[in-house]
Amino acid sequence: MGYLVYARKYRPKTFEEIIGQKAVVQTLYNAIKNERVAQAYIFSGMRGVGKTTTARILAKALNCKKGPTPVPCNQCDFCLEIDEDRSLDVIEIDGASNTGVDDIRDIQEGLQYKPVHCRNKIIIIDEVHMLSRSAFNALLKTLEEPPENTIFIFATTEFHKIPATIISRCQCFNFKRIIHKDIYEHLKYIAKEENISISSAGLNLLTEAADGSLRDAQSLLDQAVSFSGNEIKEDDLKVILATVNQELLFQFSSAVFEEKPDRIFELVEKVIDSGYDLRYFHGKLIQHFRNLLLVRSVKNTEDILPFGDKDLEKLRNEAGKASKEEILRYLDVLQEWEQGLRYSSHPRIYLESSLIKLCHFKRIVPLKKIIEQLKGKSEGFRPRSSSRDFPQVREKQDERAKIGETKQIKPKNFGNPSNESIKKESNTEKALKDPKVQDFMDTFKARIISVEEKKI
Ligand SMILES: Nc1ncnc2c1ncn2[C@@H]1O[C@H](COP(=O)(O)OP(=O)(O)O)[C@@H](O)[C@H]1O
Ligand SMILES: [Mg+2]
Ligand SMILES: [Zn+2]
Repeated sequence: MGYLVYARKYRPKTFEEIIGQKAVVQTLYNAIKNERVAQAYIFSGMRGVGKTTTARILAKALNCKKGPTPVPCNQCDFCLEIDEDRSLDVIEIDGASNTGVDDIRDIQEGLQYKPVHCRNKIIIIDEVHMLSRSAFNALLKTLEEPPENTIFIFATTEFHKIPATIISRCQCFNFKRIIHKDIYEHLKYIAKEENISISSAGLNLLTEAADGSLRDAQSLLDQAVSFSGNEIKEDDLKVILATVNQELLFQFSSAVFEEKPDRIFELVEKVIDSGYDLRYFHGKLIQHFRNLLLVRSVKNTEDILPFGDKDLEKLRNEAGKASKEEILRYLDVLQEWEQGLRYSSHPRIYLESSLIKLCHFKRIVPLKKIIEQLKGKSEGFRPRSSSRDFPQVREKQDERAKIGETKQIKPKNFGNPSNESIKKESNTEKALKDPKVQDFMDTFKARIISVEEKKI
């Protein structure tokens, strides 16, 4: 056998081998076992998570000579034909390049004939959301009166683009992103099988770059072997993945947490020197702050975070320099600025100035605090009191009333909490009486009058 890329070589051949899609696999397994297979399925989910692979295993399960069985033999002619893509009864169509109504009509014509060899005809349409409206309409007619022994499997990365009329006639399965741990373990397994030497940090780099897609992980490992041979070094991986140096990200977060804006220029220079695209780097910085927030908020981060124990410890120490709320605020503004950076004609200056702002952020009082302070003030504040609110004034007024005097007495500074505002008010009044201020006010009024005059 010639050279096979890992994605093909390690394609699961049975339901048990499918990684990370337990709910889907179990439902299909039981449906086959109990002979309750539906006429049409939709498999949705991101790229490289096992949709096509599962569709083919389902096809084998239904058509295996020893079946229908949830455990196809993978040895009979039918199983082998399906595996090698040459079965006349299992038809795989790429919806992205066969979008028209005529393409669907071709399929419908073929459906008039019984399966050539197998029990069932199985039509797999990949990227089905790309079909035209008329193609969907034609497909709908077939789904309304499906020919006997025909099973449809539609795969899509964009479920929301499939018409509701089609969805309502299918059993739908959502394929999940593959979690970090599963991808890591799978790569480790392949590395062992293929005698590839790669460190756990290297495996982590590949896993992180795969971003939830097992196929991407396998392809990246392929690329790494082509680049480095069977001894994959971390530095080589960094070149292949153009991964931003973690150390640099930590230097940035330290500058922000420790409020050292002067370090930013030098650090941005480093980013540019290392050849990173600034927008790409900014994305990595967002991810870094997200990781910091995560370790600050969640206790058990194993499945969510792509780090070994040592790196996790480092991340926790770093996150300890700020509160959860602060990190969240940093993360929020970094995300807000992402768009601005994308459209800026001076991305370097934009990045520098925004990161400097971030360094000053701790000192800017959060809105919540301001609201609390205002609330506190308003609780302590009483509406302006009448002079009779002051006991001393009341006493004097009452005294005078007794002797026939009615003149009101103005409150003096009696040490009451409201005295502060009264004092301020008298200061303002005093200031207004200042000849310089009067002068200014007069000029101001004069100007306004002159404008008004011109208008007339
Ligand atoms: N859940 C999975 N379990 C095991 N291998 C997988 C899984 N998902 C993807 N792969 C690997 O990636 C390759 C491509 O997967 P595929 O089923 O074509 O993905 P999709 O159709 O979702 O884009 C497979 O041949 C297999 O090697
Ligand atoms: Mg596919
Ligand atoms: Zn078989």
